[in-house]
Amino acid sequence: MDGRDLVRSVKAVGSAGAAQGLRTVRAAWRRRRADAAGLPERGAERARVPGPVREVEPGPGGGVVRFARSELQITVTASGAVFWGWDGAGPEPSYALADRSPEADPRAVLEPDKDGAWRVVAERVTVIVSRHGAVEVLTPGGVLLRRDLPPRWWEPATGGTARWMQRSEVPADARFFGLGGRASGPRLREGTYRLWNTDPGHTFVPGDDPLYITMPVQMVVADAGTHLVFHDTSWDGTVTLREGEEGAGSGHDRAGRSELRVDGGPLRCWMVVGTPARVLHTWAALTGAPALPPAWALGHHHARWGFGSEQEVRRIVSGYREHDLPLDAVHLDIDHYDAHQVFTVDKERFPKLPVLAEELRRGGIRLVSIVDPAVRAEPGNEVYDGGTAEDAFVRDAAGRTVEGVVWAGESVYPDFTRAQVREWWGGLYEERLAQGFAGFWHDMNEPTSFTAFGENTLPRSARHDLDGRGGDHREAHNVYALCMARAGYEGLRRLVPEERPFLFSRSGWVGMQRYGGTWSGDVATGWPGLRASLSLVMGLGLCGVPYSGPDVGGFDGSPSPELYLRWFQLGAYLPLFRTHASLRAGRREPWEFGGEVLAHARVALVGRRRLLPYFMTLAHLARRTGAPYVRPVWWGAPEDRALRDCEDAFLLGDSLLVAPVLDPGADRRAVQLPRGRWYDTVTEEVYEGPGQVLVEAPLSRIPVLARAGAVLPVRGSDGGLELEAWAPDHGRTGGGLVVADAGEGWDEPEVERYVTRWKKRQVVVKRGGHDGRGEPPYPVRVRGLARP
Ligand code: NOJ
Repeated sequence: MDGRDLVRSVKAVGSAGAAQGLRTVRAAWRRRRADAAGLPERGAERARVPGPVREVEPGPGGGVVRFARSELQITVTASGAVFWGWDGAGPEPSYALADRSPEADPRAVLEPDKDGAWRVVAERVTVIVSRHGAVEVLTPGGVLLRRDLPPRWWEPATGGTARWMQRSEVPADARFFGLGGRASGPRLREGTYRLWNTDPGHTFVPGDDPLYITMPVQMVVADAGTHLVFHDTSWDGTVTLREGEEGAGSGHDRAGRSELRVDGGPLRCWMVVGTPARVLHTWAALTGAPALPPAWALGHHHARWGFGSEQEVRRIVSGYREHDLPLDAVHLDIDHYDAHQVFTVDKERFPKLPVLAEELRRGGIRLVSIVDPAVRAEPGNEVYDGGTAEDAFVRDAAGRTVEGVVWAGESVYPDFTRAQVREWWGGLYEERLAQGFAGFWHDMNEPTSFTAFGENTLPRSARHDLDGRGGDHREAHNVYALCMARAGYEGLRRLVPEERPFLFSRSGWVGMQRYGGTWSGDVATGWPGLRASLSLVMGLGLCGVPYSGPDVGGFDGSPSPELYLRWFQLGAYLPLFRTHASLRAGRREPWEFGGEVLAHARVALVGRRRLLPYFMTLAHLARRTGAPYVRPVWWGAPEDRALRDCEDAFLLGDSLLVAPVLDPGADRRAVQLPRGRWYDTVTEEVYEGPGQVLVEAPLSRIPVLARAGAVLPVRGSDGGLELEAWAPDHGRTGGGLVVADAGEGWDEPEVERYVTRWKKRQVVVKRGGHDGRGEPPYPVRVRGLARP
């Protein structure tokens, strides 16, 4: 860093003041010094490939294949997921797995294949290991889904962890999805995607990469089938993707390619094959069922960095009330802390927070608190003193506490990879509960440590417990927020065992759904940002994290009334429906954009409230089956290539197709429909799929279509549950699932099944299932009868 850099970096944090600027520059220096001293020099490296096969030892689920310079363990598990690990890597320990690794499928074993290869034939997959260590996964019918070429390692001559590379090929028609939260998806086109959770330090647009949640998880959809592949290592790396191309006429196909390069850690991988629904089901069984949000968390949230006072919170809440707008939660950002220190309250501006919280709760509104991991390094700061007594903070290789700079100034960072630290931290939520907070919003937990420019991270050499194994930040970085979420979630379970914790976190990793959801981070205000926010929700859903949503209106600047409204209308159909913006951004209350926007925003809010029982049902289904609420339109028909390429619409559960308006000036839009009959839920106009149709999208609403035959639970005008049934196509039947849950506590309501069919020119709705045929215990409204 030279003088110019210093000036630039001080400018970069200008608003926080020059002193803050200098602190961040010092932090950058410290980080580099620590890494230079604490990390082994890379130096000369030796490349290695497995070499030819030498010996094979069949065992349960597969066995071990020994090559000249490595060995490969393959286990097909009873859950259907396939595991393989090189160099002796087994499935555990793992931060991703919810539990122990599933049992091996005893029926599957390694047996000789042709050309010196070996294979494992199981019910849902066949795995072939070539004699040089390529691994092919095929459908039971023998069609190739993925071919991993023999991996390559680079080992430092002086010892230490090896870098490695895994090249893979997928069918020419395959499309890639996933890799965590990516702004330029959901379809991941040619490019390099980094695996290092990152606060970009500015608002992001499509193309900014990486962001807060990265995951080595790919969902690959091809004619041959759908598969999910997960390389279980938390180390920094990159994935370079290139979609394939089918040879036109007599030309050759060019396979799709993925090249994963990782800086260290085990080379081990899980693969799940099947329909998208089956893949996500198996995936959730492996990495954990998504936490169930309380009902209020499925309503509308209003956040803002900089409410600044209790009066302002009251003003906003009254605004919602006066304008007759439903509101379920208000989020307090760091400005309610005392001098930006987590687990404190600025008593001057928020003198009676518990009173305010109680008042809001009586009106049906919950308070949510931001929680940052960084703790101001200042004796006398209770959290700091408590953490110091616990020896909770991350240290460097020389044993000194690592300091960084965040909102609270010079700060230290709890090592959430240590069980006792998680326990201590989890206990701190007691203070938040006493203030009346009902939900928690984890922020800045990549973790961010401002370093003025360049990367916001702790030094890579910083030491972590890694649950007893010991290691450094190169391995711990990507799981830091996951472990923080675990600390918060488990703490809340202990403190209020009767309540479902509500927690969502900016950063995270594979398995974070066990503790809660996320939101899209600081998305740039603008039409590209609107598109990016949908990409993140869809991509994360396919990686097993179903609950998320954007900052409606974008994080910075001031959206035009039209952009704000279109964002609002999209948000109303996403699991987390929250308006939020930065300290310096323009207003985000629905009444700040003129009468027309207000009227349409009200329709969106009322519509959301009406759909709450449907959202609650989807939350239960996500927990029981891993299916995200928001699904790509190809969910039920991955073989439909036009659907595979459709990125601007989504299925909300089984029953609805939502087609948000993502461009300015549009009053109609094209929608790619899956097979079957669909009704516009407002006009009841009928559309037939598969294929593309043009639908009306006036400013007042975005197109939402219902599947013919669907039954969905909605909230009636008296607040009770009602069934909305859509007429099936003639001669056809339909149905839907309902989980009637008031949305609190741990009750396990049953999944009710309803079926629709035509009977003597009338649509009837009955309870399905084995005890079925009965009348539904709720009022039923049949729609879509206007044009039979
Ligand atoms: C960054 C978060 O992404 C944003 O939502 C929040 O408002 C600020 N930090 C301030 O806490």
